[in-house]
Amino acid sequence: MTTELFIGGGGQDYGDKQGLSLGYANRHGLIAGATGTGKTVTLQILAEGFSAAGVPVFLSDIKGDLSGLAKSGTPDHKLHGPFMERAGVIGFDDFTYDAFPVTFWDLFGDQGHPVRTTVSEMGPLLLSRLLELTEAQEGILNIAFRLADEEGLPLLDLKDLQSLLVWIGQNAKDLSLRYGNVSAASIGAIQRRLLVLENQGGTKLFGEPALELSDLMRTDAAGRGMINILASDKLMSAPGLYATFLLWLLSELFEELPEVGDPEKPKLVFFFDEAHLLFDDAPKALVDKVEQVARLIRSKGVGVYFITQNPADVPEDILGQLGNRIQHALRAFTAKDRKELRLAAETYRENPRFDTEEAIREVGVGEAVTSMLQKKGVPGIVERTLIRPPSSQLGPITKTERENVMAASEMSGKYDTTLDRTSAFEILAKRAAKAAAEAEKAEEEAEQETRPALREFNAGRRYQGARVSRSTSKPARRTKSFGQAMTQMVVKELTGTTGRRMVRGILGGLFKGR
Ligand SMILES: Nc1ncnc2c1ncn2[C@@H]1O[C@H](COP(=O)(O)OP(=O)(O)OP(=O)(O)O)[C@@H](O)[C@H]1O
Ligand SMILES: [Mg+2]
Repeated sequence: MTTELFIGGGGQDYGDKQGLSLGYANRHGLIAGATGTGKTVTLQILAEGFSAAGVPVFLSDIKGDLSGLAKSGTPDHKLHGPFMERAGVIGFDDFTYDAFPVTFWDLFGDQGHPVRTTVSEMGPLLLSRLLELTEAQEGILNIAFRLADEEGLPLLDLKDLQSLLVWIGQNAKDLSLRYGNVSAASIGAIQRRLLVLENQGGTKLFGEPALELSDLMRTDAAGRGMINILASDKLMSAPGLYATFLLWLLSELFEELPEVGDPEKPKLVFFFDEAHLLFDDAPKALVDKVEQVARLIRSKGVGVYFITQNPADVPEDILGQLGNRIQHALRAFTAKDRKELRLAAETYRENPRFDTEEAIREVGVGEAVTSMLQKKGVPGIVERTLIRPPSSQLGPITKTERENVMAASEMSGKYDTTLDRTSAFEILAKRAAKAAAEAEKAEEEAEQETRPALREFNAGRRYQGARVSRSTSKPARRTKSFGQAMTQMVVKELTGTTGRRMVRGILGGLFKGR
């Protein structure tokens, strides 16, 4: 069995084979480098290597170029010459072209099978981050989730949450007594943020059938790991949605996978491209939780690799957990650049053959300063590594080729149609209709009741020559208005539902609770 994944050649003449140890691949990693230095190709060869070793991969495809993983490279490719030359330099004698098993996913459902989750699985913390809520607004969202649990109102899609907020608004007075101030202004603000999310395409992310994590962890008939590619080009215009979705996915993996300690090879490797989006203006609480998930998910056999232009984009606590590092060239134009470069260099174990800082500045395209975890998980001495050429096609496949892959996929059909089962929206609508019908019935009854008396009364008044019209409005006032009927029902239900809270997994303590 392979225990190492070949990444390229290091040493004096790039002839020493450099590998990423599968046994330590769950101890996370970093791929960094300025634009055009080779990050995407590095990601491509790592995905190939993991797949070949039977490890499923999840990655986001920002520019669409990683779709090439699904297709074998060919000698017709314009880079065939340079590839062969590079393979020769690093002693990659058995370099061949090959295609890999790929499943395409897309939040918007265009360039891949739809990926969905439910509002309740996303939870209030991540949703607040997604909606960029203030603390007060987040408080309201927490109440909404709590109420949904207590009231047995499944929050699946955005319209469930929207109708729950309407309901909360209508009952703000009663709810305030119980949960503290439920202000109309905060509810309104959340509703407006939900509209923004909807305009960004968020409607598509929430609903059913929700993604089953096991569908990301498949291997093909030959035992190769499935490479799951999330189309992310369009998603990039909604960075909050992108980062929150990936974070949600990580937290779900963490929550659902069993403990495995340090496995022979990872159960799944997760590549987080444009990782800086996760940390840009993220509140400390969120960074802490990412740090916590990264630390704990390791023992579930999941390796997380952050890809970013500058390692300084990744908070120090998290950077410290990224054991396997591939650092492509960094530019050093400004004083700030130089300082960051020095700091980046300091995190490596010196190689007497060269100066790390200088090497990070000098390495060519497709070359990197690397340090992989070795025996006992100790970081290896830093190397200048010429990264191997990819076996699959460099560059995107065509639209038709993509459609063919999608049609042939086991996932074809499973997620394509949205399911809209009864949830908060329908339940609340039904309740409102019922309450309205009851109110109407009560009104009728009241009218029946009062009619003879009213006639008498009116008759009496008429004797005195008084006007009659006023009194006709009276019966209506004795019946419940629609709002009153609702309020009474809510109060009745609130008192009878303790203990019906949905049980959440361990992440209740991490992401879903407060
Ligand atoms: N390992 C490699 N083997 C052969 N060629 C490579 C390798 N890595 C990079 N190259 C060459 O360099 C080009 C740029 O690499 P790549 O697209 O990976 O850069 P990048 O860092 O992802 O850039 P960006 O930040 O713009 O996305 C590739 O198209 C390819 O021609
Ligand atoms: Mg790239």
